[in-house]
Amino acid sequence: MHRFDSISVAPPDAILGLTEAFKADERETKMNLSVGVYQDASGTTPVLRCVKEAEKRLLDTESTKGYLSIDGLPDYREAARQLIFADQIAAERVAAVQTPGGTGALRVAAEFLATQCGPLRIFLPTPTWANHNAIMAAAGLPVETYSYLASDKKTLDFDALIEDLKTKPKPGDAVLLHACCHNPTGVDPTPEQWEQIASVVAEKKLIPLLDFAYQGFGEGLDEDAIGVRTILRQMDEAIVCSSFSKNFGLYSERVGTACLVSGSAETTKAALSQLKRVVRANYSNPPRHGGAIVATVLADEGLTQMWHEELAEMRTRIASLRKQFLDGMAATGVDQDFSFLLDQKGMFSFSGLSPMQVDQLRSEHGVYLVGSGRINVAGMNESKMEWLCNAVAAVLR
Ligand code: LMR
Repeated sequence: MHRFDSISVAPPDAILGLTEAFKADERETKMNLSVGVYQDASGTTPVLRCVKEAEKRLLDTESTKGYLSIDGLPDYREAARQLIFADQIAAERVAAVQTPGGTGALRVAAEFLATQCGPLRIFLPTPTWANHNAIMAAAGLPVETYSYLASDKKTLDFDALIEDLKTKPKPGDAVLLHACCHNPTGVDPTPEQWEQIASVVAEKKLIPLLDFAYQGFGEGLDEDAIGVRTILRQMDEAIVCSSFSKNFGLYSERVGTACLVSGSAETTKAALSQLKRVVRANYSNPPRHGGAIVATVLADEGLTQMWHEELAEMRTRIASLRKQFLDGMAATGVDQDFSFLLDQKGMFSFSGLSPMQVDQLRSEHGVYLVGSGRINVAGMNESKMEWLCNAVAAVLR
């Protein structure tokens, strides 16, 4: 008997495990609508043109592969700060660290909260991204929940959300808010609802942790920042975790940012030093390439313009896929009304399919959805839309 022989097999990841199963599926016609990755009309996840151009420039100009500093590339951090906050928050009040993706940012933020602001609990919406719970728990934060989706599974239960935020957390607890394009539902608060959420969070003296992984996938870069900027109009402090996986298509380069906003330059300095301690103990310093791409694009007017156009292309195509799916489902003659898809933002929607129907879709038709019924609309394809709708209709009947 060896020491490791008693180790049991962990269950597959609720999201990434499905992509492994999808890849192993030998059927010719299949569709992966599980993981949140954008695919173009040819079914590939493209490298954006602005990214290719930036990479060409980097190939010519990059002179070292030496370590970055613990907090990452200064130009990258400054560009990320501008995108998130525009000019609303003075630079000296933002402690930004470049992280390996949005997941890395969340882990850094969670560990910072656990070590610097504890004891505290973190409140997650129901439902939330499948990995939130694991990240928070791994950092040692006790996890609690607050209401989010109504029982119709299509709309926000705003009254329950406000009631929970007013009654469940204690001052000093943290609340995780999806800044836009709620994952997994695509259901976002309205601007007026953001105002009310912000005032409850401020009144209750909660620490807002905003997960901002989809900036630009909802309405636009500035429009999608409304949650972050509304919160920061009503209070001085927040942590924002952002990602360039989706809006730059830099999934595998792992580019994200954890930004802590404090009330003063002095506090920000202290907070940055603590964020750096967390980074150093986890992965030492971030990878260079993805951050250098983002910094190169955002430092150049022409490349930035190109990026805006490519991002708008992805966003409008996803909106058109929502419409095509809705029309396709209507054409199958099923009773279910899918018009709620048009009100939802970003990559995801809740299909309303039961776990059994999700299983049936996978086993009988090769269509992969997350067990909760979440559909990655950005993985749909015009040329297979009729086939997809017929498959969904078959399990609904
Ligand atoms: C998703 O929710 O599918 C994405 O955020 C990818 C991931 O890491 O789960």
